[in-house]
Amino acid sequence: ARKKVLLSRIFPKLATQLLEKAGFEVKSWDKEHPMAYEELTKAAQDCDALFCTLTDKIDKAFLNSCSHLDIITQFAVGYDNIDIEEATKLEIPIGYAPNAMNEATADIAFGLMIATARKMFFMNQKIKNGEWGYFDPVGHLGLELKGKTVGILGLGRIGMAMAKRCKGAYDMEIIYHNRSSNPTAEKELGAKLVDFDTLISTSDVISVHCALTPETHGIFNKTVFDKMKSTALLINTARGAIHNEEDLINALKSKNIWGAGLDVTNPEPMKPNNPLLSMENVCVLPHIGSATINAREEMARMGATNIIDFYKEGKVPYIVNPEVL
Ligand code: GLV
Ligand code: GLV
Repeated sequence: ARKKVLLSRIFPKLATQLLEKAGFEVKSWDKEHPMAYEELTKAAQDCDALFCTLTDKIDKAFLNSCSHLDIITQFAVGYDNIDIEEATKLEIPIGYAPNAMNEATADIAFGLMIATARKMFFMNQKIKNGEWGYFDPVGHLGLELKGKTVGILGLGRIGMAMAKRCKGAYDMEIIYHNRSSNPTAEKELGAKLVDFDTLISTSDVISVHCALTPETHGIFNKTVFDKMKSTALLINTARGAIHNEEDLINALKSKNIWGAGLDVTNPEPMKPNNPLLSMENVCVLPHIGSATINAREEMARMGATNIIDFYKEGKVPYIVNPEVL
């Protein structure tokens, strides 16, 4: 019988095209919103493979009620929504989509850095509110970025793409904190590996590009905001749970830090009455880091290829837990 693949969301058409061309039966959720947890569990029962994304909770209970799945592949580079340890225990390979969105996400990080430094979203909102009175010689002044220090938390490929933009556009000093050193960044950009305390206390801009793990969960909290420069910007395009939102709001209100540019929040979606949305030095986007035509097509291709190659050749080219194969 033909293998049946469940797509948990409406993904780019390329995913279905590649899978059907390779002989798979594709069952796709057809609503814009995510499937509820119970719906996904139920829908997966008669499927062989699952193509899911970060809005799906693939936890221990889900995996155990769907342990018949041959493979799960994630439409994202981050996979903190998946219990990898449990999947590995159940010998289910977990695919993902690394590198597809390196440039796209770095563009959003870089854009948010400039937008926040110049209060762009707030100033745009003033026009919409009918509050564009006159050219104001002294109002709403922002920061310049030339020659400042950017601290990258998690210098992988996305962090590297951000660092290159900062170096090229503003000749910024690059410092980074990472589990391992990045010789390419050190050689090409003069990047310097520093400890976390040095990163937070000496950066003018901190850009977050690490994975959400137990170690990074809530790592930007009151203690850290207190140690940051009062002129510093926090840019987070990784995962919302890496910053503690209440502490961030307080740090901004008390001017312990200068501003924040966020493409990710916790929870998502952010509620429209969130205080961050009315702050002058804050720019928020609805998790669009990978939202380019190129990146999303590539993410679709990677997921479809993971499933196709798994059944054809027993290989998963983009895999999180290779030890199960
Ligand atoms: C998006 O957030 C991703 O992890 O790909
Ligand atoms: C911290 O996020 C690290 O990658 O070490």
